[in-house]
Amino acid sequence: MSTILITGASRGIGLELARQYAEAGERVFATCRAPAEADDLKSLASGADGRLTVHALDVGDGASIASCAKAVGDTPIDVLINNAGILGGKSQTLESIDFDAWVEAFKVMTIGPFRMVQSFLPNLKAAAAPKVMTVTSQLAASTWPFGGSYAYSSAKAGVNKVMQTLAKDLKAQNITVAMIHPGWVKTDMGGAGADITAQESATGIRSVIAGLTSETSGRFYKWNGEIHPW
Ligand SMILES: NC(=O)c1ccc[n+]([C@@H]2O[C@H](COP(=O)([O-])OP(=O)(O)OC[C@H]3O[C@@H](n4cnc5c(N)ncnc54)[C@H](OP(=O)(O)O)[C@@H]3O)[C@@H](O)[C@H]2O)c1
Repeated sequence: MSTILITGASRGIGLELARQYAEAGERVFATCRAPAEADDLKSLASGADGRLTVHALDVGDGASIASCAKAVGDTPIDVLINNAGILGGKSQTLESIDFDAWVEAFKVMTIGPFRMVQSFLPNLKAAAAPKVMTVTSQLAASTWPFGGSYAYSSAKAGVNKVMQTLAKDLKAQNITVAMIHPGWVKTDMGGAGADITAQESATGIRSVIAGLTSETSGRFYKWNGEIHPW
């Protein structure tokens, strides 16, 4: 049995990852900002024989990350999935942009995943073959030109670079780091007209994570296992 910690597990891709890992018999630390309101997650937890527990964690808040790390204690973590994400403001055009929302996008999607690795490093080091997977986006890639979305795209591009750097810095400690574009997914963020379901995306992400090795650390994948140029 592996131990998986997932951020942003209250809905969308994170919720589905939690469901699939729990069904596969893994130990899941499912984290979210507001456990009291996370009804789908709580119902997953109630049917998982204690293998899935729900923990409060706001990835944009260092104190919240530290308090979650304290709750997890010294449990080895085999897979840390940085999944939590936000759009970073409704309007993101040259003419109309919310700078506070842009800063928030960086806190949640660029700095948050770094802090997660930093705070849970002892847990990762205690695992036999630890892996960190960060859910980013094709909008992170220079090979995917797309107008607007300044806050979202820059935060995702930033976290790709952060993760590539961590892959180098953590190589000697045998911690494998990777990034993934989850597809265009039918969630609150992706909308009903998206290409694939959260089930398809999560199945693909789990399969990529299962295949990660230290030799391939630092790569950016698509949900279907292909390498994403960036
Ligand atoms: N859907 C797509 O087409 C698509 C495409 C490319 C990349 N992605 C990426 O995939 C990941 C998952 O997206 P999704 O489609 O599942 O989105 P979603 O349905 O909107 O869910 C986002 C999740 O992130 C959580 N979250 C937001 N801010 C947080 C914070 N500060 N701390 C902790 N959790 C926070 C939300 O929690 P609350 O319930 O508390 O708000 C929710 O659980 C994101 O990183 C997103 O950028 C999605």
